[in-house]
Amino acid sequence: MIFCCLHSALLLPLLQASFLGGDAVVAEPVSARRSLVWGTGLQAEIVLPVRFFYIQAVNSEGHNITRSPGKSTFSVVIKALSPKEYIRIHAPSPLDRNDGSFLMRYRMYGTVQEGLLIEVLYGEKHVAQSPYILKGPVYHEDCDCPEEDPLTWQKALSCPSQEHQITKDFESFPSINLQRMLQEIPKRFGEKRGAIVHYTVLNNQIYRHTLGKYTDFKMFSDEILLSLARKVRLPDFEFYINVGDWPVEHRKVNDTPGPLPIISWCGSTDSRDIILPTYDITHSMLETLRGVTNDLLSIQGNTGPPWNNKTEQAFFRGRDSREERLQLVHLSKKNPDLLDAGITGYFFFREKEEELGKAPLIGFFDFFKYKYQVNVDGTVAAYRFPYLMLGDSLVLKQDSPYYEHFYNALKPWTHYIPFKRSLFDLLEQINWAKEHDEEAQRIAREGQLLARELLQPHRLYCYYYKVFQTYAMRQVSAPEVRPGMELVPQTEDSASACHCQRKTFPREEL
Ligand SMILES: *[C@@H]1O[C@H](CO)[C@@H](O)[C@H](O)[C@H]1NC(C)=O
Ligand SMILES: *[C@@H]1O[C@H](CO)[C@@H](O)[C@H](O)[C@H]1NC(C)=O
Repeated sequence: MIFCCLHSALLLPLLQASFLGGDAVVAEPVSARRSLVWGTGLQAEIVLPVRFFYIQAVNSEGHNITRSPGKSTFSVVIKALSPKEYIRIHAPSPLDRNDGSFLMRYRMYGTVQEGLLIEVLYGEKHVAQSPYILKGPVYHEDCDCPEEDPLTWQKALSCPSQEHQITKDFESFPSINLQRMLQEIPKRFGEKRGAIVHYTVLNNQIYRHTLGKYTDFKMFSDEILLSLARKVRLPDFEFYINVGDWPVEHRKVNDTPGPLPIISWCGSTDSRDIILPTYDITHSMLETLRGVTNDLLSIQGNTGPPWNNKTEQAFFRGRDSREERLQLVHLSKKNPDLLDAGITGYFFFREKEEELGKAPLIGFFDFFKYKYQVNVDGTVAAYRFPYLMLGDSLVLKQDSPYYEHFYNALKPWTHYIPFKRSLFDLLEQINWAKEHDEEAQRIAREGQLLARELLQPHRLYCYYYKVFQTYAMRQVSAPEVRPGMELVPQTEDSASACHCQRKTFPREEL
């Protein structure tokens, strides 16, 4: 026995050395047939700005390959099924997620009537059930062609039947009294803060009126409402959205008068705002492969070197939007072996710049050269958190009263490592991670896997719809287009006609 174990202990480092040395690695052979391909981008009826699906490399014994088999292992060809149809499709190579899986993204710039042909190839060989045929019509993002039956649409997207955050947010609002809101909201929130937008959705048309000066971010609420209305018929409803940073409704449920159901992008434990996915992830999702580089999909193929090759330090770069961020830089100066933190821009604490210095900007993908990522609040929740979770570093998260729509599903010590708001145990937690590398890696991986699941683009659409549907059902009077509201026109898509063929129910006003 002793002989055997000594023997293998000696052999192993040798094997690993030869495995890592040189580029002509003896890669695990990929089996084209046994590899897996799945995801919403293979379903014609799921319309998204960028459609996507996954490829998992599997070896000839049927085992998943768990490290990258090479970034050009698979290639994908996507085209109109009929040679008579031509549309432009932006389909960059599959993203290597460094764990044996790949993410394929494509954006269609037109609708195909007959269908779409998707070939997934390993060399010359078809992978899994390739070629995939999506029977037409296959609509593109700009095609105004809503599914009239929300249930059918939700079923196609496999929307979860429950979202705990939504259930919780609506507990305070068993019924929604529009008359009361019309009277109170402009007075309470419209004048001073002035970051409120009043919307009415009627017959799947969107109308709005802005209250106050700081409402430029209505562009973000407009674009997602329009995008949603092109995909599914929205309920008739009337609401106020707060497009400022901070949640606004601080009344308690038992107060008289009670809280009003205002919709916001960020929640906090001391407010009652109903929350939506932030404008940041929503906008980047809409603009994927078209002007943004950091979005929920692209990040997944840009997570830096593998775990063992990451620098064993905690990392932070960001603006000076909260005092703890400055303290973080102090900590970093005293403990440079554990923490590399820097402020990249001063606005709130300009007087500190001389003392703390300004760190050069670094691309977000380069954050993942470091093993541990420190997430400290900005003005509210740090909107980088979802992107950090999608990487393969370990995320250390500051305790915070602020939250986004998906935090509720994450557990400390399972998906990330928590630290105190005052930062007093941060170094301790970094040390823990360094001393428990295997557990740290496991937490990083668990967090990443859950984020990959929750932050899929179609899940954001599900979430939006469910908030609006839940809200609409609780209105006690009919929503109306109010004086002063203007129509938010649907995106014109004259460049590529889309011939919507869904059957529509008769509408009163048309
Ligand atoms: C292989 O990978 C697929 C896709 O990631 C996953 O669903 C499946 O559970 C994995 N199989 C095993 C045995 O781990
Ligand atoms: C990781 O580190 C090893 C050992 O230092 C090196 O040989 C290898 O090339 C590195 N791999 C990557 C992907 O950086």
